[in-house]
Amino acid sequence: IITTEKTLPLRGYKILISAGGTKERIDPVRYITNDSSGKMGHSIAEAAYQYGAEVTLVTASTLESSKAIHRIQVDSASEMFEAIDERFEDVDILIMSAAVSDYGVADAATSKMKKADLKEPLTIELQENPDILKTMGAKKENQFLVGFAAETNQLEDYALKKLAEKNLDLIVANEVGKEGTGFDSDDNQVVIFTKEHQRLDIPKTSKTEIARRILDKVIEELDHHS
Ligand code: CTP
Ligand code: CA
Repeated sequence: IITTEKTLPLRGYKILISAGGTKERIDPVRYITNDSSGKMGHSIAEAAYQYGAEVTLVTASTLESSKAIHRIQVDSASEMFEAIDERFEDVDILIMSAAVSDYGVADAATSKMKKADLKEPLTIELQENPDILKTMGAKKENQFLVGFAAETNQLEDYALKKLAEKNLDLIVANEVGKEGTGFDSDDNQVVIFTKEHQRLDIPKTSKTEIARRILDKVIEELDHHS
């Protein structure tokens, strides 16, 4: 039993993880997206499963995932919002590692846009998408909330601001634009902040190892979470 607790520290926990960059449709053959590969979120889902958790992965990525992981495939930020909102009440932990598009197309075309019908300069109107994490943060009861922050500058300031504004328990911040880390890379380098502003630096390593280190920190915090 002691061995189980050590090797399966998340046994009995329901965990919801989001991954990938969402896609915003312009028309049936075109969309707007971002550089996220989904590797970080998928690595967290695999690590959580190995730690014994019951894992649901809401992903906009085409990367594979283990059979034992309950996978929900989504495209847009609105679809991701619905998939998460529907399940949030029933989970213990939410980890939002998806790169959610901040804006969606205001009035997506239902058939392919044709050049002949368009005039220059072509403008596509965008409207703000719902902030999934902030919405869950506002209505959380006992759920443990983990957010991500990808920043090019003022990493600590922006991360702590997001931690507070979205009512998170933990935030994982990483500097983007650094070579050999970030979006499409197999490696990453992150800094974790707790809501008590404790700082934990995880030097450059594989996303598999980063995933474990993030979960180890979540488990440590859960021990003194109400
Ligand atoms: N997030 C979300 N819904 C959105 C936008 C972001 O749930 N519509 C989540 C992300 O998954 C991430 C966290 O919020 O866990 C921070 O995302 P980020 O893009 O870094 O911050 P934003 O609040 O969108 O602010 P900005 O992009 O302007 O820095
Ligand atoms: Ca954003």
